[in-house]
Amino acid sequence: MSEYSADWLALREPYDLAARNAAVLDAVACAFVGQRAVSVVDLACGTGSTLRAMRRHLPARQSWRLVDNSLTLLARVASYRSPSHLTVATTAVDLARDLELALDGPLDLVTTSALLDLVSPEWLDRLIVEVAARRLPFYAALTYDGRAVTEPLARYDLELLAGFNLHQHSNKGFGPALGPAAAARAAQRFEEFGYTVVLGQSDWVFGPDDRAIQEAVFVGWAKVAPLTTTLSPDEISGWLAWRRAHLTEGRSRLRIGHIDIFARPIGRR
Ligand SMILES: C[S@@+](CC[C@H](N)C(=O)[O-])C[C@H]1O[C@@H](n2cnc3c(N)ncnc32)[C@H](O)[C@@H]1O
Repeated sequence: MSEYSADWLALREPYDLAARNAAVLDAVACAFVGQRAVSVVDLACGTGSTLRAMRRHLPARQSWRLVDNSLTLLARVASYRSPSHLTVATTAVDLARDLELALDGPLDLVTTSALLDLVSPEWLDRLIVEVAARRLPFYAALTYDGRAVTEPLARYDLELLAGFNLHQHSNKGFGPALGPAAAARAAQRFEEFGYTVVLGQSDWVFGPDDRAIQEAVFVGWAKVAPLTTTLSPDEISGWLAWRRAHLTEGRSRLRIGHIDIFARPIGRR
């Protein structure tokens, strides 16, 4: 399952929904209380999970512009039957190149999810400069922060996690990525631009029955381990077999750390 495939995004969406930080969501909702309509752009929208998660938290009349560079994923958004008080438009934009295009026109809110850890410090700064120049509020959910707790703990878990976190810094099309440092950096930079920031954890919590998503996470760790750890192919495949056996027996739990932030310009809205 590739990192941005529709299958992967569908598998993670219910866990993302459950994980979104309630206090951060409340802060977003409070920012628009009393407003009848809201215009939102969702950056790197995938199949539209942020729209589906957020629509209950915003004023009834909503206009959404969903932006991604994957026509395949945008086609999935187009097949989503939105309620009549919602307008949804999709736009294909390479955000690494044409970010400013995505932010064109009248907007009340910029959202994103599972994006910030993929981008470089330079691109994040560019995003924050553009958002701050428009004095727009910014909600970024589910930024991976490098924490993971496996239960039971297996030999090599820590090496594999460290290897995965190292790999999170590789270039995902936006320059060498911030990886687990992204949410803290975004919060700090927004504060420097005169924003107040609400920040909270939005961890995935997988129980013994959440086999498919745990398996996908462990396969992801194993895949990059030859590049980022000193473990041999036999050690890596032995570790994955051990993990899979525990999954099959319903004895595996996993917690993966994420951070949500809501940044709001001081003195506006
Ligand atoms: C981890 S997925 C998150 C998708 C969605 N926000 C969600 O939470 O389900 C990252 C998304 O970034 C998009 N993406 C990656 N590089 C991009 C680029 N250069 N321009 C626009 N979108 C990009 C991918 O197509 C994918 O939809």
